[in-house]
Amino acid sequence: MAPKKGDFDKARYNTLLALTSESGHTLGTWFVHLFNHTRFVFAELREKYPEAYASISEYEVPIEQLLNKVKEMLIAICNIASNRAQTKEKINISRLVLQSPHFALSVGLRQIKVRKELDFTFPEIEGVWGMLMLVMTNLIHNAVEAMANNELVDGKRGELLLKTQLAEDRNYAEVIVSDTGTGIPSKIRKKIFDLFFSTKGSSGIGLASAKQIVKLHKGTISCRSEVGKGTTFTIRLPIAKL
Ligand SMILES: Nc1ncnc2c1ncn2[C@@H]1O[C@H](COP(=O)(O)OP(=O)(O)OP(=O)(O)O)[C@@H](O)[C@H]1O
Ligand SMILES: [Mg+2]
Repeated sequence: MAPKKGDFDKARYNTLLALTSESGHTLGTWFVHLFNHTRFVFAELREKYPEAYASISEYEVPIEQLLNKVKEMLIAICNIASNRAQTKEKINISRLVLQSPHFALSVGLRQIKVRKELDFTFPEIEGVWGMLMLVMTNLIHNAVEAMANNELVDGKRGELLLKTQLAEDRNYAEVIVSDTGTGIPSKIRKKIFDLFFSTKGSSGIGLASAKQIVKLHKGTISCRSEVGKGTTFTIRLPIAKL
């Protein structure tokens, strides 16, 4: 039977979405590296080679702004494509969390004690690896930034806890990212997941994209915080069906 016009269009549309999704996620993962490496290089120069840094410092803000624009665009592309054509895979969430500080590549992370309580025994979740890693690196960056002004004790400014556990109902994997930083005042806690909300003069994309990505994975993200004590984010992701 000859294909009807509508069938043909739908097939082409789905192929296009699948391609967009695939390339969007690949680009997203590469971009996280490019973004973090660029920040890392500027921070290293600033700290260790101030003269070299002084000669190129004028480029730091424009480069960061450009990178943020690309980040925004990539998130939009990934979100649009992922809503329709998903290229999900089975993921051991504890393995992903274990690797996340490496991907975060934050200079400040050197002065943070990273404690890991990871349970590798529970079942896999289903998701897009690059996007979930983006959620983790966003949360880690926020945690490091929240501890940046803590006093140094034995060379460390605070503790970052990365924990995974099976939820009590056994249907969800829980990822906990906890810091001993500034905490979040109750009056702004409602706004932290809003796009472009930032108290740091930053782009305010981190938590908005984290929430969007977790939602695309049919999960939830929540936050508990106490000013002066620290902040804990909990992500719940459904365990993959057999
Ligand atoms: N762990 C944390 N401790 C204290 N405050 C936090 C923490 N995480 C988020 N916040 C607050 O929530 C706001 C929004 O966070 P979000 O990650 O979306 O944006 P940002 O970090 O300001 O900018 P970007 O992530 O785009 O560089 C932050 O500006 C900060 O006020
Ligand atoms: Mg952030």
